Amino acid sequence: MHPSEEGALQARPAAEEIEPILVWHPRAEEYRRALLARLPGVPIELRTGAPQSPSRSEAGVLLSWALPPDAFQQLPRLRWLQATGAGVDELLARDDLPESVRVTRSLGRFGAQAAEYTVGYLLHWLLRLEDYRRNQDRGVWRQLARPLLADRTVGIIGLGTVGSAIAERLTAFGTNVMGVCHSARPLPNVSRVYAMEDWRRMLPDCEALVLAVPLTAATRGMIDEAALRTMPAGSALVNVARGAIVEADALLATLRDGHLASAVLDVFDQEPLPPDSPLWTEPRAWVTPHIAAPSEIEPIADEFAANYQRFINGEPLQHEVDRSRGY
Ligand code: GLV
Repeated sequence: MHPSEEGALQARPAAEEIEPILVWHPRAEEYRRALLARLPGVPIELRTGAPQSPSRSEAGVLLSWALPPDAFQQLPRLRWLQATGAGVDELLARDDLPESVRVTRSLGRFGAQAAEYTVGYLLHWLLRLEDYRRNQDRGVWRQLARPLLADRTVGIIGLGTVGSAIAERLTAFGTNVMGVCHSARPLPNVSRVYAMEDWRRMLPDCEALVLAVPLTAATRGMIDEAALRTMPAGSALVNVARGAIVEADALLATLRDGHLASAVLDVFDQEPLPPDSPLWTEPRAWVTPHIAAPSEIEPIADEFAANYQRFINGEPLQHEVDRSRGY
């Protein structure tokens, strides 16, 4: 039994009824306003960045993203941390995150956001908006091939909240959606689900491949040159997950020789993308600055406040991260 479930069977000690919250985030003030409306009377401490000198906080609960290096030493009472984003790879990679601290993720509206981004860029690609704009600028009347998303097969790696939202929207366009997930159980809007160990078998059919999988030891660098070359010539890649899932050299090589017709990249191994990255000027790459699915205060405050009540009541937390699994 999970310790929190065990706790639910016992009367909660009075001291647990209110647990001070620390919001450590560049937008801490906005989160505080949103949380005060949902959790009146709960003490909320704010930090926007690293304090001048380390300063101890007594909060047992933390809402944060991208904490400074010595943050956990300043939080000796910390028991639970909710990240304001979905991908907790950087957090879990820290060697100072105490084992005893429970970690939850936020889901926000990342599914809807990433789905609109993906569908938008796939349509942009197939509709050749750039070509027509260029032709218009030169007064050129020229009809180009008119492929449909409805005739395409798209593979999605990762069918969690983000991947399944993308599958749903693509299905509405009539696209044949295939996908990869751990359990390989049938899922709505996915014509064929592959188990994680079989993911390469999906690639020969993928005219576009969407990455919506967490960055873990198993997914780091998984999209290598062999994977990209197994996709049909002229296909597209969309990465709304993490840059390190794709091998950078393989990506560039397959874009430069045209095997990949298009790579829509919202995430990079190093962010911001360094000024000397060849991706900036690669004509087949579409670079966006990690905006496919931004954290929004209101839905994340809703999720956090609901989880806070669960925490206080000793109930299981939603979207708790399994640290051995890595997400
Ligand atoms: C952003 O990248 C997130 O993980 O939510």
